[in-house]
Amino acid sequence: MANIKFYGNESVPVEMYRARVVQKLNLLPIEQRRDTILESGCNTFLLKNRDIYLDMLTDSGTNSMSDKQLAAMMQADDAYAGSESFYRLQEACAHMFGTEYLLPAHQGRACENILATAYVTPGSVVPMNFHFTTTKSHITHMGGRVEEIVIDEGLDVNSTCSFKGNVDLAKLEELVAKEGADKIAFVRIEAGTNLIGGQPVSLQNFRDVSAFCRSKGIRFVIDASLLSDNLYFIHTREAGCKDTPLRDITLELGRLADIIYFSGRKLGCAKGGAILTSNRQCYEDMREYIPLYEGFLTYGGMSVREMEAIAVGLYETLNVEFIAQAPELIATFSKELQTRGIPVVLPAGGLGCHINATEFLPHLDQTQYIAGALAAAVYLVSGVRGMERGTMSEQREPDGSERFAEMELLRLAIPKRVFSLSQIKYVVDRLAWLYENRSLVGGLHYVEEPKIMRFFFGRLEPNSDWIDKLVAAFRRDFGDSL
Ligand code: F0G
Repeated sequence: MANIKFYGNESVPVEMYRARVVQKLNLLPIEQRRDTILESGCNTFLLKNRDIYLDMLTDSGTNSMSDKQLAAMMQADDAYAGSESFYRLQEACAHMFGTEYLLPAHQGRACENILATAYVTPGSVVPMNFHFTTTKSHITHMGGRVEEIVIDEGLDVNSTCSFKGNVDLAKLEELVAKEGADKIAFVRIEAGTNLIGGQPVSLQNFRDVSAFCRSKGIRFVIDASLLSDNLYFIHTREAGCKDTPLRDITLELGRLADIIYFSGRKLGCAKGGAILTSNRQCYEDMREYIPLYEGFLTYGGMSVREMEAIAVGLYETLNVEFIAQAPELIATFSKELQTRGIPVVLPAGGLGCHINATEFLPHLDQTQYIAGALAAAVYLVSGVRGMERGTMSEQREPDGSERFAEMELLRLAIPKRVFSLSQIKYVVDRLAWLYENRSLVGGLHYVEEPKIMRFFFGRLEPNSDWIDKLVAAFRRDFGDSL
């Protein structure tokens, strides 16, 4: 956000860009939204975009690109091997992180596949502040185990800690002492910890974990997919960092980590992924898997146009005005909800606004997929698509029993430079109505349940006729309004 004070002292996230390409949106009447959500197995992943008013499922691949990114796509250099686009992306990564080698991949989880294939063997342990769904799946697929060592405040939705994504050093030390350093495939820190509400990690925590890993000879990996918001929080919240140029921070991260990887669908606002390192051995450990799984070493499954766009996106990420808009809009969104008594994760993190479904729907228990039910109800009453981040997104234990998530969150993602403040006000209004009528919302159960990442394709049904009751209440209060 630019330093623009309002005469009335209001805090408004003023945009430092203008939109010159727009896309028509539809808002279906609630009866059609009811049919659509039921046909989609009450799973927002299965909704069609044409049936959605505001798509807040994710920011992955849905951020707006800048004019400079679009222009750069025109100079893409098509070549199977040795494309100039590769060298431009490598240069942008080196500019940002100071890293020497770039291994391109088609998206973030492809980087995770390469990392897990190179380093995880049956019995390996991978400590991390918190897991991400795709990360964990790749590690367990290779026979490894994820251990979460986030600070306790990270799992406390009411904690006001500024860096809830930080690793608890004592937990890390204890784990390594117990398992032995040779069993640790790598330690991973996820910037902007996705599943606990987009909560950031402090620069000091990156330093401390790096120092510990170096002292034990353990590889240290940073998942920088959500670094844009995390950088902004380091800039605005961390003592001593306010005047530090963003590039000094990213260059330091590049020195602290052995490997950095990211989803270019998030960091870089285009579509792709990258693994970066300055360590020749790490580069060689992973290099052979790029042509095996992704494509030749100089494109890794990405379109060269997207590589050009990511390169520009990385340079733009080093501009505070560029990265401020999303976290500031999320903060405004969260504050508006909070003033209406709606339980949100605070302090507001990155990526989106995270609603605490456990508190929103206190009459439901985790066997009824609290956050999944809230996601279905929010679509029903607003046409807004959010993402369940709770038990529905967990994988069952090997014995088939449910693994209950630490938190039941509904994420309403804010893709960068996509939504306006009036659209946010609309969502706040519909959520406020739903909160008043929350006792009508019932639970869900699976009727089709895939074994791996069941939340993507799984189908659920309501446990009662609560959806019809909600439609009737909506009509009673809103008349013929959409
Ligand atoms: N790491 C983090 C922290 C992520 O948030 C994601 C994706 C990935 C890795 C995988 O990247 O999608 O390019 O394969 N997060 C998306 C989301 C899907 O909606 O939060 P990918």
